Amino acid sequence: MQQALRIAPSILSADFARLGEEVRAIDAAGADYIHVDVMDGHFVPNLTIGPMVVKALRPHSAKPFDVHLMIAPVDPYIAAFAEAGADILTVHPESGPHLHRTLQLIKAQGKKAGVSLNPATPVEVVDPVLEELDLILVMSVNPGFGGQSFLPSSLRKIEALRRRIDAHVAAGGRPIDLEVDGGINVETARACREAGADLLVAGTSSFAGGPEAYAGNIRRLRGGD
Ligand code: DX5
Ligand code: ZN
Repeated sequence: MQQALRIAPSILSADFARLGEEVRAIDAAGADYIHVDVMDGHFVPNLTIGPMVVKALRPHSAKPFDVHLMIAPVDPYIAAFAEAGADILTVHPESGPHLHRTLQLIKAQGKKAGVSLNPATPVEVVDPVLEELDLILVMSVNPGFGGQSFLPSSLRKIEALRRRIDAHVAAGGRPIDLEVDGGINVETARACREAGADLLVAGTSSFAGGPEAYAGNIRRLRGGD
């Protein structure tokens, strides 16, 4: 069943010159998870942060670090991100030849495992690995940059995945978070919620307006005034 709505601000939209303070401020403003976008300039056309930065940020928040790995190959870096303090490690099936093995690697590190579906990646990819998953991340933009527009076709995918997760749980499987990433604002957040999402990544709309605005931004994304 759909769980309480949670918000995972993406620090991709934070002030990188003050990242520790930004993580503390967004935590205090009510973030449920801290979403960390890791890009390699190869799997996606942008370069961001590595395990050293995750480790440096770790003391700044006790909230779960939701680390989204947009890198290929991904397997050689799983242990480094786990040791740096990630709580959830999410990978793209296109990041390597053996998704099941990658998920096992994450589990062997004692971390939660997620799989992320690009706009053109079909939902059926998750079927053989549902048992291994703690989270499914629907990309509602093509990964690589913050500030893009939400792709409406994502809503059908969210609905389809909601049905799969509910059937899995009804058959005795563990709950799986259904997360959406890209172009989330107050309007698209509501649509994702109605389609069955329980966790929303928000970069631009969480960090807009500076630290004084963060709590209001998160409250509105949750559907509050
Ligand atoms: C895109 C990243 C997203 C991004 C979201 O590749 O995975 O997490 O930061 O940014 P907004 O919320 O600005 O679309
Ligand atoms: Zn992301």
